[in-house]
Amino acid sequence: MYKICSLFAGVGGIDLGFLSNKKCKIVYANEFDPYAVKTYEKNFKNKVDCRDIHEVKCNEIPDFDIMVGGFPCTSFSVAGYRKGFDDDRTGDLFFEMERIFKERKPRVIFLENVKNLVGHDNGNTFRVIIDRLEKAGYKNKISYSVLNACEYGNIPQNRERIYIVAFRDVQDYEKFRMPMPILLKKTIKDIFDFDNKVEDKYYYNDGKYKQEMIDMLKKDMDDDKTVYQWRRKYVRKNQSNLVPTLTANMGEGGHNVPLIKTKYGIRKLKPIECFYAQGYPKNYVLPEDMSDARLYKQAGNSVAVPVIERIANNIINALKANDK
Ligand SMILES: C[S@@+](CC[C@H](N)C(=O)[O-])C[C@H]1O[C@@H](n2cnc3c(N)ncnc32)[C@H](O)[C@@H]1O
Repeated sequence: MYKICSLFAGVGGIDLGFLSNKKCKIVYANEFDPYAVKTYEKNFKNKVDCRDIHEVKCNEIPDFDIMVGGFPCTSFSVAGYRKGFDDDRTGDLFFEMERIFKERKPRVIFLENVKNLVGHDNGNTFRVIIDRLEKAGYKNKISYSVLNACEYGNIPQNRERIYIVAFRDVQDYEKFRMPMPILLKKTIKDIFDFDNKVEDKYYYNDGKYKQEMIDMLKKDMDDDKTVYQWRRKYVRKNQSNLVPTLTANMGEGGHNVPLIKTKYGIRKLKPIECFYAQGYPKNYVLPEDMSDARLYKQAGNSVAVPVIERIANNIINALKANDK
């Protein structure tokens, strides 16, 4: 078994991706948002250490082979503050990961982040990350790619993310390849419920919102094969029949939640549908007593699980080949 240490675990999207490989086991997960922890613990056997990562001492983490983490990206994302490492709220969180991998030297380090990480601050932020990995002993054994979920995960979401995989041992690195693109076969019809009526609160009915907005939605949303978004003053149609990139701020006021046209009316996606748009399996359960705002945020913060699955499989195959 390959033992995984999951940092910034959120609701466990990366964990799910690795666990789809039967050779993996989560031995430690850390996440300090109690709501995300609640969702996580409903779906996984392991408990989450819910302390702030700054408080966790290296020697408190059990023995592990692979460290995984999508460290918070607000300071790197276009949608965020564009402050990078200067942002003292979140900018230092990569260095918390570094503190742990420097001392523990895991066989593999897997990082996920927004695409913009590469170009942020004229490439300086990314250079710092690679430099720290190299100094910790991973030099010339790092592979990274920006992959779009709709091209690499067979899920109809436009979600470009950078995936970085660093190996301690050169023979593992040499056996690893990032996954190749695959055909997108799933459509939004496979993941959202167009045929049944859902709870009233998800529909945009007359009287519930400003009439001007309702009228515009009714006029512009003429296609039931794609996904729309309300952008303050206008409706944006996705021309490729894909879900636009889900973001953490979907939760705030629910305004960025994607919309669909169904036979029962125009409605926003339900939180569980946002999880499905990230490739979460049908047996994933959400806590019943949690607000939609929190659940939208958790889904938007998470990852495209099938992309992680494919990278995780390639990592495990590389390790297994050398462990024979
Ligand atoms: C981008 S999200 C990762 C989501 C995760 N990959 C998933 O699939 O759900 C970053 C997570 O880091 C957590 N976080 C931020 N600062 C933290 C800290 N100081 N200690 C522990 N967790 C933290 C946030 O609560 C958030 O859930």
